[in-house]
Amino acid sequence: YVIGIDIGTSAVKSVLVSEEGRVVCEHAESYPLHRPNPGWSEQNPEDWAERTIASLRKLMEKSQVAPSDVEGISFSGQMHGLVLVDAEGKPLRPAILWNDTRTTPQCRRIEQTLGTRLLDIARNRALEGFTLPKLLWVQEHEPEILSRASLFLLPKDYVRYRLTGGFAMDYSDAAGTLLLDVAGKTWSADIAQAFDLPLSLCPKLAESSELTGTLLPDVAEAAGLLPATKVFAGGADNACGAIGAGILGEGKTMCSIGTSGVVLSYESRKDVNPQGKMHFFNHGEEDAFYVMGVTLAAGHSLSWFKQTFAKESSFDELLEGIEDVPAGSGGLLFTPYISGERTPHPDADIRGSFIGMDSGHTLKHFARAVLEGITFSLRESIDLIRESGREIAEVTAIGGGAQNETWLQMQADIFNADIVKLESEQGPAMGAAMLAAYGCGWFPSLEACAKQFIRPAEVFSPNPEQVKRYDGLFSVYRDVYGQTRELNE
Ligand code: XUL
Repeated sequence: YVIGIDIGTSAVKSVLVSEEGRVVCEHAESYPLHRPNPGWSEQNPEDWAERTIASLRKLMEKSQVAPSDVEGISFSGQMHGLVLVDAEGKPLRPAILWNDTRTTPQCRRIEQTLGTRLLDIARNRALEGFTLPKLLWVQEHEPEILSRASLFLLPKDYVRYRLTGGFAMDYSDAAGTLLLDVAGKTWSADIAQAFDLPLSLCPKLAESSELTGTLLPDVAEAAGLLPATKVFAGGADNACGAIGAGILGEGKTMCSIGTSGVVLSYESRKDVNPQGKMHFFNHGEEDAFYVMGVTLAAGHSLSWFKQTFAKESSFDELLEGIEDVPAGSGGLLFTPYISGERTPHPDADIRGSFIGMDSGHTLKHFARAVLEGITFSLRESIDLIRESGREIAEVTAIGGGAQNETWLQMQADIFNADIVKLESEQGPAMGAAMLAAYGCGWFPSLEACAKQFIRPAEVFSPNPEQVKRYDGLFSVYRDVYGQTRELNE
């Protein structure tokens, strides 16, 4: 067996996976998120470590698997979160998370100081969520803390350190710091120097499937495992989500719809530079990359709509019958910018809209229009990837957006691509387990592991007439952003 651990924002989820790729047991333990000031989002790194050990113990108790049968462990983690530790490995302050928005001035400073070097080296724009702006915030506001820091880590790296006693950061997660030369796979001395940050703050880099140690004896005892259990570096949650969905190889793309929506495409070309319109990060597979676009309020738009207009219904009840509403929702169009947008408009201030209301529209028209608006936003990311020269003929759908057949068909028609639904889906924790399985030498490649672990269940193919109809509506949708911007000024 192997174990995959996903350090999420609300909980840590662990899965125990057999050699055939079967999830024999899973367990989640939650922890609090602190918002001490508006826009701040922090967690206590010790909570992650404690809850992870507790979740491992529960996993072993529930499954009744012998500790000696667990060969390896690996991680997936929420990206970008800043953990600063002193020379003894003690966190110097709470972790500043990916969804903390205090760093707008630091982002402007990074873009001004580095100019085009930022996109050339780090391949991404400076966004509030990323790690370098957080480091600069600490440098400006808590200089005495930074001066005591011996290393900076990302969430899963801190947990791995607490489990093994060793420090490392893998490329897929390091790519989200803005301090990594993404194509060159080294820390950028150029960027560190530009902000007076000593390179010694950056941990040793590792491949996601690299062996980084074994369990400390007291941790092994508390977790119900053996100290000889191998621990592999692991990766960023988006990279691990991609691995767990089999996005390993040219032409593989996934669309994950949860609270936010992600379109992610495998990329082997290191010279692709989406000029900051999309994220470009290292994959969990050696020397591979992925481009990624984000719709901030995907599932969130639907849950907001349900909460506001159909509180008493379940999601299934709300979506029941939307297949009878024609494509285009009878002239009703929704833009899902209810909490701002990321791709293709990095704009925190834009807000959403319903346009084209008719006195004959019912709740079903509105529900369908919300799904269409979310899917149009994701199509913008699909188009950006196609513009980079990558063909997208097939998209693997995962997350909540893969649970409704009408929505899956809609994705096929709006993306003009086959949509593949998987037999079972475990998200990033499964990708982490696959990194451990590959690291243990069970498979010659991650791709071979995916062939055995991940099975397609159903394919939804585009309907040419609907594709045409949606193409027309999509051009109207694209214009709404520019037309509604002023509403928020
Ligand atoms: C990616 C991002 C999020 C976090 C959440 O850029 O900010 O997906 O990784 O877990």
